[in-house]
Amino acid sequence: MKPVEIADTVMNLNRLTVPKVDVGQIRNTAHAVEKFYILCSAIELEVFDDLRNPKNAMHLAEDLGLHQGMTQKLCAALVASDFLRMNHEGKYALTDLAKTFLVTSSPLYQGDHIKLMKKRREEMASKLSEAIKNGPSGMRTSSGDLGIFDQNFTISMAQYALGGCLQRTVEFLKTNDDFMKARRSLDLGGGHGLYSIAFSRLNPELEAVVFDLPSVIEGFTREMVSICDCNVKLLSGYMTKDDIGSDYDVVFVSEVLYDPKESINVILKKINNSLKEGGILISKHFHQDDIHEDLVAVFSDLMFSMVSGDRHGIYSTSELCHLIESNGFSVVRIEDIRSTSNPSRIIIAKKVSEQPE
Ligand SMILES: C[S@@+](CC[C@H](N)C(=O)[O-])C[C@H]1O[C@@H](n2cnc3c(N)ncnc32)[C@H](O)[C@@H]1O
Repeated sequence: MKPVEIADTVMNLNRLTVPKVDVGQIRNTAHAVEKFYILCSAIELEVFDDLRNPKNAMHLAEDLGLHQGMTQKLCAALVASDFLRMNHEGKYALTDLAKTFLVTSSPLYQGDHIKLMKKRREEMASKLSEAIKNGPSGMRTSSGDLGIFDQNFTISMAQYALGGCLQRTVEFLKTNDDFMKARRSLDLGGGHGLYSIAFSRLNPELEAVVFDLPSVIEGFTREMVSICDCNVKLLSGYMTKDDIGSDYDVVFVSEVLYDPKESINVILKKINNSLKEGGILISKHFHQDDIHEDLVAVFSDLMFSMVSGDRHGIYSTSELCHLIESNGFSVVRIEDIRSTSNPSRIIIAKKVSEQPE
C-alpha cells in the first residue's frame, strides 16, 4: 500500500467508519503464535518445574539464572495465558493446566511433544510458500518411510496419546464386546506401545502384539514393555512389505493410515489377511468431515503433505470407510472421540471376506 492510498483513506471521512468485520481475528492469529513461543520458552527454561513451589519473579530468576526484568514479563505473559496464576501471597503459582501437563514429573507431561511441535512447525513454516508454489519437496527415505520416526518422535507420540486420546480410546473399547473377548491383538504402527499396554491391562486374557519399524521396537517400545511387565509381544519390520503376523482377533491401527490410497489398500489387505474370520479392525485417525469443526485435521493435512512429498491424506469418515470396506470389511460402528485439539474418530469394521495378496 502506498502512502497516497493511506492518505486518501484518512482524508475521506466516508471511509473512516469502523470496519464491519473485526481485524482482531487476524491479529489474534499472530498472538496465538506469540503465546505458543512463550509456552515453549517457559518449558525450555524449566519455569514450570521451578514454580511447583510458588515464588515471585525475582526468586524464579535467581533459581534459574535468568534476567530479572525479562522473567517478570514472562511470568505476566504466562498468567495472561492461564499457565500461571498469582496466589494470595502475591507469588506466581501453577494453574491446574500447568500442573497436569507442563511439569516434568507429571505422568501426563507434554513438554517433549510441545518441543517437537515447535521444531516441525518452524521447518514447515519456512518452506510453506515455496511448497505451495512448486509442490512439496518430500522427505521419504529409500525404505519408503518418512525418516522422522526417531526416539523423539516416539516419545512425543506417547505424550500426545496420554494427553487424552489414549484414555478416550480405552473408555470406548471397554464397552465393545468383540474387543473385550479378544485373545490376540495387533497394534500396527503401535510405536510407543502404550495402547497395547493399556489393552492388556483392560483385558488380561489378551496377548497384544506391537508392530513397528525395527529402530522404534528395539528402542523405546522394548524398554517401555519391559518396565510395564505386561503380556505385550513385539514384532518389527516395514508394514507394507514384511510379515505382520496372523491369527489376530483384533487389529488396532492408530494415526497410521494417512498415505495415498494405493498404499492404504496394501496395508488394509495385509490387515485383512492377518485377521481370523470375523475378526475386527479398529481404526483411530484424524478425519476431515467438517472444514470448520475439524480444523486441526485440515491444518495437519496441509502441513504433513509437505513432509510426505505426495498427497498426505487425512480422509473423511466416508472416504476411510469406503477404503476399509473395499478391502474385505464391513463397517459396524463409527465412534466420535473428538476433543478440541484432536479430530479423531474410531471406526470398527468386521472382516467379511479374504483378500488376495
Ligand atoms: C503417527 S505414529 C502413531 C503411533 C501410535 N499408533 C499412536 O497412535 O500414537 C506412526 C507410527 O507408524 C510407524 N511406522 C511408520 N511407517 C512404518 C512402516 N513402514 N512400517 C512399520 N511402522 C511404520 C512409526 O514408526 C510410528 O510409530
